[in-house]
Amino acid sequence: MAIHTMRILTNRKKRRADTRPALLIPDTITDTDVRIPLGLHLLISGTTGSGKTNLLLAILSTLICRVEAGDVCLLAVDLKDGVSANAVKNLYTSIAGTIEETVVLLQKVRSLITARNQWLKENLQLEIQPSQEQPLVIIVIDEALQLYGAIDPDTIKQQRKAQDLLDQILLMGRSTAVMIIAAIQDPRKEVFKLRERFPERITLRLNDKAEAIMAMNQTAITQGAAPWLIPTGRPGLAWFYDTDAHTAIRFQAPYINIDNLQAEIENIRPIDVSQLFPDSTQPPSHKEE
Ligand SMILES: Nc1ncnc2c1ncn2[C@@H]1O[C@H](COP(=O)(O)OP(=O)(O)O)[C@@H](O)[C@H]1O
Ligand SMILES: [Mg+2]
Repeated sequence: MAIHTMRILTNRKKRRADTRPALLIPDTITDTDVRIPLGLHLLISGTTGSGKTNLLLAILSTLICRVEAGDVCLLAVDLKDGVSANAVKNLYTSIAGTIEETVVLLQKVRSLITARNQWLKENLQLEIQPSQEQPLVIIVIDEALQLYGAIDPDTIKQQRKAQDLLDQILLMGRSTAVMIIAAIQDPRKEVFKLRERFPERITLRLNDKAEAIMAMNQTAITQGAAPWLIPTGRPGLAWFYDTDAHTAIRFQAPYINIDNLQAEIENIRPIDVSQLFPDSTQPPSHKEE
């Protein structure tokens, strides 16, 4: 049995009294969980090799039981042809591996938000409480900067569409139970214009303090976060700024062995894409092989 799996299971039992939904990421230094509010958009910044992809896998590991229960639904945007997301495809309801597929998938999510807002109005409610009927939708975007910087006009057009949809989803997702988790290498604003829309920030190793201020915020740095001091040989060492408690938390994410994770999710059946987006043309599904 995977060491990380055992730790995650043990930590699940140690869940604190706080019952608000949260991502509980194991910290291998203190053997406790770092508690990250679930439902708020999360931005992960870190240089190449700092451990972003592994941290995303660690986050996915903590969500397995929710995917199994059917109140969390994972969608992947993986513009390297969907290769990384495909390695854990049993967890995903849909994987977009190209910019065209990304636009289609984000349009579906945008329509879902409209439908959920309609439901909220009809039911005089202010926000969706995730359930099997209306699961929390989490869009996982590794290497989110691949949504920028194309050269040929056609791709530029598609990228602009995707960026615009992402912006709308970031604005309206919170109350409609749609959350984005994105990972980027370069937190500079001119590069990643949507940065300000992410209230929660995790920062792995970065090149310098200026990057860290952009990736988190000045308060996090004042409170002690120093991701530029993380050595290159320490992937997974990270800072999280807890906007609730106003504290900067340093933690070490567990190493995720992909074989063990795959074994663990072998029999998982996520919500079907036709169930999530009932009355529309279907975005790409991993089941269409
Ligand atoms: N928490 C961790 N503990 C140990 N090794 C890690 C950890 N996170 C990542 N690594 C290793 O560091 C390397 C880079 O990790 P990766 O997640 O691919 O970084 P990034 O996506 O930021 O480029 C990989 O070989 C990975 O196995
Ligand atoms: Mg990576």
